[in-house]
Amino acid sequence: MVVSQTDPFDIFSLEARGNHALYARMRREDPIHRALDPRTGAAVWFLTRYDDCVTFMKDKRFGKVPRSAAEPASAHAMQTAINRHMLNLDEPDHTRLKSLVHLVFTPGRVRDLRSRLQAIAEELLTTIDREVAEGDEFDLAAHYGEVFPLLSIMEMLGLPAADYPKFRRWTKTVLLLSEETSTETAILELSHYLNQQIDARRTHANAPDDLLTGLIFAEAAGDRLSREELLSMVFLLFAAGYETVANFINSSMLTLLNNLDQMRLLRDNLDDPVLVSSAVEELLRYNSPSYMTLPSWAFEDVVLGGKQIRCGDSVHAVLHAANRDPAVFDHPNVFAISRQPNKHLAFSLGIHYCLGAPLARLEGEIALTTLLRWLPDW
Ligand code: HEM
Repeated sequence: MVVSQTDPFDIFSLEARGNHALYARMRREDPIHRALDPRTGAAVWFLTRYDDCVTFMKDKRFGKVPRSAAEPASAHAMQTAINRHMLNLDEPDHTRLKSLVHLVFTPGRVRDLRSRLQAIAEELLTTIDREVAEGDEFDLAAHYGEVFPLLSIMEMLGLPAADYPKFRRWTKTVLLLSEETSTETAILELSHYLNQQIDARRTHANAPDDLLTGLIFAEAAGDRLSREELLSMVFLLFAAGYETVANFINSSMLTLLNNLDQMRLLRDNLDDPVLVSSAVEELLRYNSPSYMTLPSWAFEDVVLGGKQIRCGDSVHAVLHAANRDPAVFDHPNVFAISRQPNKHLAFSLGIHYCLGAPLARLEGEIALTTLLRWLPDW
C-alpha cells in the first residue's frame, strides 16, 4: 500500500538517521510523533524526548509480540524458530529466558575476558601494522572496528577464532548486511555448526568452561533451554552484539577525530580508569549505536504525553534523540569525556535492557584504548 500523505519530518528517510537538527525540531514541535509506514500504511510513533522514552520503555502496555494479524509471519519455518528469542518476546516467556541466560552471562564472566580481548585487539593491530609496513592502504573500520566485536563474542562463547570467516558471512547475511548467501542457507549452516558444538559439549566429560557450555547446562528450578531456544539465544547474541559494537567502535573513532582536544585528554590519561570509563559512557551517549529501539506494539489504547496511541500501533524510542535532550543533558551536542552525570539510554531500559551492556562497555574500552596507545598521533 502506498501512502500519499507526506510526513513533515520525513522520518523514514535515510537522511533522518542521526540528523540531530531534525531530532531537535521533533523534540520541540512534536515529541510524540505519529507517521505512516510508507510500505504498509500502519501507524508508527516516534518518541524523541528523554522522559517520554523512559516512561514508554517501562510501560507494560507495550510489548514486542504484535497482537494484530497484520504483522506478516516469517516465510521460513527455521527463520521463525530462530527469531523466537527474548528480544521478540514478552513476559512471562521473556522472563524465563532472561533468568536462565543471566545465570551464565554474568559481569564476572565478562570481566574474566579482559586479557583475552586485549590480546585479540593487539593481534589485529599487529596485522594492520604489517600491512602498513608493506605500504598497503588499510581500512581501520573494516579490519578492526568490525572484526573485533565478532571475535569477542566468539571468544566468550568458546568458538574457535579460525571459524571467523564463516561467522562473518553468516552474521552479515542474517543481519541483511550482505547477500553472499541466502538467509535460509546462512541459518541452516549456522544451526548445523552450532548443533555440532552443542553435541560435543554435551557428550564430553570435560566440556570447556565457556558461555556456550554455560547456556547448555544453565538450570533454574529444573528448567533448561531447549535445543531450539539455545540456537536462537546464540543467534541473538551474534545479531545483537555484532553490528551495535562495530557501530560503537567506528563512530567513536570518528567522534574522537572530530574532537581532537577530547582525544588528547583521553590519550594522555589512559591509565585513569575513572576518566576512561566516563569517556566510554559519553561515546555511548553521543553516538547512541542502536539509534532507536526495535518496534513495540500497544496492547491497548494508551494516552502518552497527551497523544492517543491506538491498540496495535507500533512505537520506537529514538535513543539518538533522547540522549541529546537538553532537558536532561547540559549542552547535549558538546562531546565531553568527563561528563557527569550521564544517565544515557544507549542500552534501553525496562525488561529488554541490553543483556550485553557489560561486554559492550569492555569491548569499547579495550578497542579504543588499545588503538590510542598503538597510534598516539592519529
Ligand atoms: C554498544 C553496543 C550495544 C548497544 C548500543 C546495545 C543496545 C541495545 C538496546 C538498545 C537493546 C534493546 C532493544 C529494544 O528494546 O528494541 C538491546 C538489547 C539486547 N542486547 Fe544489546 N547493545 C549492544 C551490545 C550488545 C552485546 C555485545 C550483546 C551480547 C553479545 C548484546 C545483547 C543484547 C541482547 C541479548 C538484548 C535483548 C535483551 C532482552 O530482550 O531482554 N548487546 N541492546
